[in-house]
Amino acid sequence: MSAPSTQSPSSHTGRVAVVTGAAGGFGHAIAGELARRGADIIAVDLDPADRTVEAVAETGRRAVQFQADLSDPEQVAALAPELLGFAGRVDILVNNAGVFPFRNVFELDFAQWKRTQEINIDSQFLMAKAVMGSMRDNGWGRIVNLASNSLGLAVPDMVHYMASKGAVVGFTRALASDLAPYGITVNAISPTASRTPGGRQFIGDDMLRTVADMQSIKRVGTAEDIVGLACFLSSDDCAFITGQTIVADGGLVRL
Ligand SMILES: NC(=O)c1ccc[n+]([C@@H]2O[C@H](COP(=O)([O-])OP(=O)(O)OC[C@H]3O[C@@H](n4cnc5c(N)ncnc54)[C@H](O)[C@@H]3O)[C@@H](O)[C@H]2O)c1
Repeated sequence: MSAPSTQSPSSHTGRVAVVTGAAGGFGHAIAGELARRGADIIAVDLDPADRTVEAVAETGRRAVQFQADLSDPEQVAALAPELLGFAGRVDILVNNAGVFPFRNVFELDFAQWKRTQEINIDSQFLMAKAVMGSMRDNGWGRIVNLASNSLGLAVPDMVHYMASKGAVVGFTRALASDLAPYGITVNAISPTASRTPGGRQFIGDDMLRTVADMQSIKRVGTAEDIVGLACFLSSDDCAFITGQTIVADGGLVRL
């Protein structure tokens, strides 16, 4: 059972949140908790996000889902009016969709390198561009980008992934400066290797256990371990914090 939240159950009431990668581990958990705290949810993923839409409906909040490849500028351009059409505005964007395949650098080809950048960082830029005009018009917005604690570790076979997540941190810092005048904060979360569908697929149970043993808190991370931070970074409480990347990893990486 998860610990009681320190934020009010109504901290996000009336907010409209877009969560990308909403069919996966972190996205599903973040969308569900934002809804429990009062937000309506726009779930976006390559895959169907029925499970997430159903979880949101159980909270009594509204939810809609869209399937799109968020690395494709044309698909995001077609999606943008749909996102704004759901409730007339977007208040929160959680840029969570991503992939993390391991590949030795001698085997990694340019197409694989490029594809990882397209999915992990181009999608964050495209989605921010799609919704930040609405946030500016309303004088309030929250953008939360998913980075990774691996940036602070010596992880082999991840040059394409680490480069993309390093770009997420730089993007977060720079976008925060441009959007601050409009009441929009931009921050990033760096989770540890976690037991999500993607974590199982790309990292595997043995490596998840090995990483957990290196953490101060020696249990494998779960999606629930970052939802509280995602909710904080997308709340009114985060009005004076921007451009930051916050590590939520059981105490493995120290900045
Ligand atoms: N799980 C971990 O160990 C871990 C650790 C650090 C950071 N992260 C980051 O957290 C984020 C979410 O990871 P997760 O563990 O929930 O993974 P996941 O695989 O469970 O979920 C990711 C979701 O993103 C979607 N997606 C992938 N490419 C897409 C695209 N082009 N367009 C639209 N949707 C797309 C997938 O369909 C999937 O549903 C990723 O950005 C990942 O890099 C994960």
